[in-house]
Formats: sequence, C-alpha cells, structure tokens
Amino acid sequence: MNTAAIAKVISGTAIVCALMCSCMKGSGLPGIVPLPGSVVAEKGEFVLSGESDIYIASGAEGMEYAADELKSVLSGICGVAALESDNPGASVVLGLSDELGVSSYLLDISPDRIKITGGDPAGVFYAVQTLKQLVPAQAYNGKAGRVSIPAVVINDSPKMMYRGVMLDAARHFFTKDEVKTFLDIMALHKMNVFHWHLTDDQGWRIEIDSYPELVGTGSVRKRTIVGKDPGGEYDETTVYDETPHSGYYTKDDIREIVEYARRRFITVIPEVEFPGHAVAALASYPWLGCTGEQYEVRQTWDIDDRVFCIGKESTFRFFEDVLAEVTDLFPSEYIHIGGDECPSKMWEKCPHCNRRMEQEHLDSYRQLQAYGTFRLEKFLESRGRRIIGWDEILEAGISPSAVVMSWRGTEGGIKAAKSGNYVVMSPTGYSYFDYYQTRNTENEPIAWGGYLPLEKVYSFDPYEGLDADDKKFVLGVQANLWTEYIPDFRQAEYMLLPRLAAMSEVAWSSASGNYPDFRVRLADFLELYRSFGYTFSETALRE
Ligand code: ACM
Ligand code: ZN
Repeated sequence: MNTAAIAKVISGTAIVCALMCSCMKGSGLPGIVPLPGSVVAEKGEFVLSGESDIYIASGAEGMEYAADELKSVLSGICGVAALESDNPGASVVLGLSDELGVSSYLLDISPDRIKITGGDPAGVFYAVQTLKQLVPAQAYNGKAGRVSIPAVVINDSPKMMYRGVMLDAARHFFTKDEVKTFLDIMALHKMNVFHWHLTDDQGWRIEIDSYPELVGTGSVRKRTIVGKDPGGEYDETTVYDETPHSGYYTKDDIREIVEYARRRFITVIPEVEFPGHAVAALASYPWLGCTGEQYEVRQTWDIDDRVFCIGKESTFRFFEDVLAEVTDLFPSEYIHIGGDECPSKMWEKCPHCNRRMEQEHLDSYRQLQAYGTFRLEKFLESRGRRIIGWDEILEAGISPSAVVMSWRGTEGGIKAAKSGNYVVMSPTGYSYFDYYQTRNTENEPIAWGGYLPLEKVYSFDPYEGLDADDKKFVLGVQANLWTEYIPDFRQAEYMLLPRLAAMSEVAWSSASGNYPDFRVRLADFLELYRSFGYTFSETALRE
C-alpha cells in the first residue's frame, strides 16, 4: 500500500455500482464475504479436478504468488498439485488488464474454463480468495477429486486501500506459525495491512542486535495476572499464575513472516512504542528512563508512568539504532511509532527533560512528546519512511506527512483529515476486538471489557463527519486485537472471527450496508472457517 495508489483506487470505486443482495442466494451461489461489486450468475458449472491446469498469461512480478494461492486451493480440494501449462486454453487462465483498477479483478467462470483478470497481481490474488468461497466448504478435505462450481461473472474492487488488522504480540506472544495463520485469515478476508504491535510494558518481542537485552531481559515477564486486573501492580488481591511468559521473534523469523505476508499482498507495519508503554525496554536498559532505576518487565495491564526519557540524547541514539534495524527488516512505507497513553509524571521530575524543555522553548509536556516524535520522524524520513502514530500524536502538532491512527473515537481522525493528514480510522467503538462480542458474558472468556457486537462493527461508517474533500485523507480502517486477556491463539481467533468478516466488508465493499443480507452470506463463510479449522465465536451470532 502506498499513497500514490490511493487516488487510483478512489476513482476505481466509482465504477463499482451494481448493488448486490441476497439475490446471490436466490441464484444458488454461495454467499461471498466481503460483498463483491457485482455478481452475475450464469448458466451451468465448471468442474475443477486433479487434471485442472493453470496458464499464467502475464510475467508481471507477483503473478506467481496468486498462482501459488490457486494451486494451494486446488490441492486442498483435489489432493494433487495443479500443473502450470503453457497452453492459453488451460482450464484456469490468469491475466492482467490495464482497464481494471488497483487490486481489482474480473472472475469469469464458464462451463469450459475459469478466466481471472486482475488490475494487478493483487487483484488476481483476491479473485482466488473469492473463488475459494465458490467451492463448497466440505470439499476442502483434499479428497474431493472433482468439484463443481457455478458459472458466474464477478467484477470487484476494494473501497479502501488500507484494510488493516493489528495483533498485539507484546502482551501475549504468538508463534511464527500462529502469525502465519493470522496472515492467512487476513488474506481470506482481503485485508492487506498487518500492524504488528511488537513492544510494550509487558514484553519486547523483536530481536535488535545492537541491544541484545531487549529480548534477553525484555521478552520475559516473570508472571502474568490471572483473571481481571483488580487495579494495579501492588494490589494485594491480584492473583498471578507465577509462570514466566516469554517469546520473541528473531530476525530470521521476521524476514520469513514479512515474506509470507508479501506473497499474500499484505504489508507488515511494525510498531515500536515511543515514548510510553516502555517498561520492558526500561527493564532491559535502565538508562532509557528518567531516573535510571532498575524495573521489572511489567506483570499487570493498563497505563504505566514509567516512560522513555526525552531529555537524554542517549534515548535518541537508542531509537535511531533500533529503527535502523527495524527499517532493515520491514520494507513498509510506514513505521508505527506508538505515541499513545504517555503520562508525563516522570518527565515533570526529571532534570534532563526539564532542561530539554527550556532549551527547545517547549511550553508543555505534550510538546516535549511532540519534539521526540518529530526527531524520530526526521530519522525515519532519512531512511525513506513515514510515521504512523496513535491519535495522541496530534495533541501538540504533527508534521504534514505523519499519519494518524484514530482510536479514541474518530474525532482525532476527522481533525487530522481536515488539516490534510492521512488517517486510519480505528476507533474503540467499532474496531476494538478485545471487547466482548455479547452482553451475555458469563460463559465467555474474560475480555478487556466493553461491548462490540458483530452488527456494530458492520455499521461502522469511517467517513462519518467528513465532507467529500476530507474523505480522500482516510486511507482506510483497522481492527485491533489487544491481547491482555488473550493468552493463546485459539482465543485470538475467537475474538477476531466473525467480527473480521464485518470489518472486511466495511473496508472492501462499496455496495454494502445491508446487515441481514450480510448475515445470510456469513452463514456460508462460517462453513469455510469450519473447513479451515478456524475458531470463531458462535455467541456473537446470537446477539
Ligand atoms: C490504544 O488502544 N492504547 C491505542
Ligand atoms: Zn527525563
């Protein structure tokens, strides 16, 4: 995803106008999520089998990723790897057309062949995701041999260029293979930005060669709170499990995951928190804090006063070293620098921070934060990158190129868009998948709190409050999976699904908005979750 592509996709959405509804069901076609731009059922069906072959009509970079995805779908059904052919008359033909927009596709299934045309290789890949849903879910057993899929013409393109999902791997660690499954789930939903929250008070999860203690010390939490946090680190009623929680991603792990994502047309944006949510880093290198005190990696949740010192130059040397290694690993245009929930209590008492304020003529501690953010931004700019930050970065002014991730409602995003900054809308009220999915919480796994039912996610209008001129600054939307109360991957899937299906429709579908119709189509999609072994919340469906 880059900003140059945005204008193209915005104009592309204008041509997606065919309204679809449960007529898809009436036609005998399975429901497709997210809802495509137009679906026209044709007569007959195409038979996929172990003999189906694939012709790739374009040598453009990335076509092989789309072809690989198709091959894995076919072998998931038929149990044999599909063959690539040099015959343009092969059963499945993959090609490109300049007439289609960014990430757009035309999927044309007739009784004698399947023709997939993309505006780019990503479009071809998304067509394969749609094709997956046209296959009966029960056929994904590797034994079906042959399967009939209905003849149909589907014309589709994304509404938004940034279709994000955040995974907090700091509060609880998820293995490399679990992260890959997370990316598979994202791809199935046509989501294309993986925001990877890698550092926080409770864990530092990314290997940095120049500061080995970040993972040596910072990736190990002595114990983890069990049950609800009754209110703080030293509350006598807090119950812990006394088992250390640890884990981090080596550089090789990260390279592998970034490549795995790239082959699924997913950009990975790493988040390294600054200047708050810093305790794991401070536990590793106490000189990063205002007092130099030795701390432990935090064992409870919520906001912590212990943050990075902005007065000392050594903090900036640290961040430049860390970000240099981060940018070597992650090719994304954007790097997320956090910025949220940073108390100023330590700075107020710190001679270094106060000297910095005098020298730089800063009037408030929020300006001190903005000074630090600006320095990181300058450094990242020198490496050809741009910053994204949570909406707190707006409070004392930001540079025109910073992107704002609006989480405390959409107000921050609206303000930023109106002043010409790009924005990702990710407000708690629609995008926080750590909230309960049901009011009936008795039998639910413990969650952060809140209440975010499926229908509310579906009703999210990221453009509300913006006029036509401002809308173009909304890059897209993002679902956030904070994991304080998500100790394992099954529960992560449970919190993600099926709400991600609703968010995917907010992000992708121009012709959406009909919740009852979504629910009908979702029923078919859930069968696919079952076939692929994904855990999802049934209680969310009963709301
Ligand atoms: C956040 O939820 N603290 C961004
Ligand atoms: Zn300080």
